[in-house]
Amino acid sequence: MATPDPRRLANQIAVVTGASSGIGVAVAKALAAHGAAVVINYSNDADGAKATVADIEAAGGKALAIQADVSQEDQVQAMFRQTIEHFGTVHIVVANAGLQVDTPFVDMTLEQWQKVIDVNLTGQFLCLREAAREFIRRGVQPEISKAAGKIICMSSVHEIIPWAGHVNYAASKGGIMQLMKSVAQELAPHKIRANSIGPGAIATPINLSARDTPEEEKALLSLIPYNRVGDPTDVGNLAAWLASDEADYITGQTIFMDGGMTLYPGFAEGG
Ligand code: BGC
Repeated sequence: MATPDPRRLANQIAVVTGASSGIGVAVAKALAAHGAAVVINYSNDADGAKATVADIEAAGGKALAIQADVSQEDQVQAMFRQTIEHFGTVHIVVANAGLQVDTPFVDMTLEQWQKVIDVNLTGQFLCLREAAREFIRRGVQPEISKAAGKIICMSSVHEIIPWAGHVNYAASKGGIMQLMKSVAQELAPHKIRANSIGPGAIATPINLSARDTPEEEKALLSLIPYNRVGDPTDVGNLAAWLASDEADYITGQTIFMDGGMTLYPGFAEGG
């Protein structure tokens, strides 16, 4: 998997949400490097989406930017319609768009709670449902992939690690775990695979405030036994592999990519 193989996802169409920044950019680029044509979804950051498209095209790949707020049903449906009109169908969806609105629990407003649940959890529901409808309509194309469709949910270590001060975010990621597993169970008979990636601290804008001073960086690294912050390209390569037929027998799983953050590092010396 070290060198992208453009045959791995050849003739496949992927939708990556939130592909204008952070992990989404790396996932979109990796899928394209492995041969997929990629829809670069964005909500507000048109310049970021344009840059992702330009990078993919410069590397010889195919990409199309489509604006849609994933928390809005009509916008998600329009994005999938446009994708199918343009590329013919969809084989891979990476439900990646997500955000944090961090506040102490007792101060959290309903609006702050709702915003995070709407984008992170309802947004994934809407994208998975539209993708699954198309996967089932089209069925397996054995010359393209063993599966009718591949769903990848971008979760987090916080689907299992509680997170004080981030209750809305942790709840959304815990919800994604049961969304993904239940969907995987329901859709397996249709030859649709659903899995999640659970990143730990990856160097992206979402966690800049947790690592922009040496003290913060040190505190963050104390939670990571492998002692480094992750690279978005690591997550991109994992997504490309999970979407490929090499992972055809994997469904209903979360693969944590976190340098050991989920290993309860406090117990290395305690307990
Ligand atoms: C969050 C980051 C955080 C990481 C580890 C991710 O899901 O978005 O802000 O650094 O989890 O705590």
